[in-house]
Amino acid sequence: MFRFDIGALLPGRGRPGPQSPVDHLAASVEDGREIARVTLWGKESLLVNDPALINDILVARHHDFGKVEGTRKGSLVSANGILSTDDTVHLHHRRLHAPTFRKGKVEDAAVTMRETAESVTATWRHGRLLDVVEEMCRITAGIALATLFADLGTAPSTPLREQLPLLIRHAMEYPMAEAGPTGGRRRRTGPGAPLTLAVKQAIRQSLAECEGHGGPGSIVGALRADNAGPPHGLSRDDLVDEILLFMIASSVTNATTLSWAFHELARTAGIADPVRAAAVGDASAAGGGPAVFAPGYADRVVMEVLRLHPPVWILSRQARTDTVLGGWKVASGTVVHISPYTLHRKPDLYADPQRFDPDRWLGADLRHLPPCAYLPFAAGPRGCIGEAFAKRELATILTAVAGRWRLAATSRRPAVPVAGMTLHPHRLVMMPYAHNAPPKDNR
Ligand code: HEM
Repeated sequence: MFRFDIGALLPGRGRPGPQSPVDHLAASVEDGREIARVTLWGKESLLVNDPALINDILVARHHDFGKVEGTRKGSLVSANGILSTDDTVHLHHRRLHAPTFRKGKVEDAAVTMRETAESVTATWRHGRLLDVVEEMCRITAGIALATLFADLGTAPSTPLREQLPLLIRHAMEYPMAEAGPTGGRRRRTGPGAPLTLAVKQAIRQSLAECEGHGGPGSIVGALRADNAGPPHGLSRDDLVDEILLFMIASSVTNATTLSWAFHELARTAGIADPVRAAAVGDASAAGGGPAVFAPGYADRVVMEVLRLHPPVWILSRQARTDTVLGGWKVASGTVVHISPYTLHRKPDLYADPQRFDPDRWLGADLRHLPPCAYLPFAAGPRGCIGEAFAKRELATILTAVAGRWRLAATSRRPAVPVAGMTLHPHRLVMMPYAHNAPPKDNR
């Protein structure tokens, strides 16, 4: 029987080493096995690495696999909201927020996304080092406040604008599970951490100041108009937590993806120039164009970053009944993990899987992949509600930044992934060079 204690390898139980913890995770399924028995965060569980079985868990038999009980307690976000609930309560939340994520609304946000990215990068200085992860948190938190939460009326000076990027940066480090590594990381970012409390207080204050604003087409408006009350709707106390969840979910994932994108742009020959060209010429970068089977260059880079560096590196479900999965008897209560990170590196699904190659998405690859072989946004009724918003935001920021700046690596070594709430680079310091700087300055 194969046993592998991944928890022991996660940062928080030791400094990130030259070999990343997720590479150890990948090793548990290296020989092509569909299901491996693993010990994760001290709990025996299953790791499923086959698209057909994953499709069973997330889509075909999703009623048999619910959210994991332990992840709800002590969580950074509401225990009664969209992320944590199941069945009719969850469906209620999905319906509530569907109008906010309609395609037209996402496209309307593209201009604000670009302007926000440009206003943050206007503070960069040619040849002065940047902490790229922090900068991406500033951009994505700024976009969340200017688009999804515009009805909170956050003026540039409000505490929320200053504190949210910091909280997003800390949230990356937050452990995925209740039983995960604790200590300093949980104290800095957990529900009772001073920064979390300060952000919640700022949300409460903004809510009080904009009483009556917002409608069913906005997250705040929809939550306010929801009179269902518990168990279907949220209590007043939960409202702030749910707003915080949407702020974190929308920013932490995008900031992580963009950090990896600039890391890859600096490391992989031949992609920075086409991305820069896309910034001026590509229709999809400007807000139009198809995004799935004929993606523009920036979209292809985003898809490839999400393949090799999926921010949500592990999805966990718990069997709600005795069942059978791929010939394995799965007892009720068994925790089942799916790792987009390991799945996206399977050689039978992706040719030369370790290679960063945006053009693999040019041909028929995606159509020829089996369902649930590409899972950055999960799938099924609990798939990411913000997928279209995220794709638009990622391509927009990527082109807005790469159109004006070259971010050069400061180390030859690849960044070390850290497996917290997202799989993010441990440290990513880069040197910005403005494209329009005088030639002698532009090395
Ligand atoms: C690169 C960007 C993003 C990635 C990779 C991503 C990934 C995911 C994944 C994998 C899930 C499923 C989690 C699970 O089943 O356990 C999820 C759920 C969710 N995401 Fe995203 N996400 C991204 C951006 C966003 C954005 C922009 C929003 C918008 C506010 C958002 C809001 C949510 C919410 C509310 C859920 C819970 C959905 C439910 O349970 O019904 N995400 N996301």
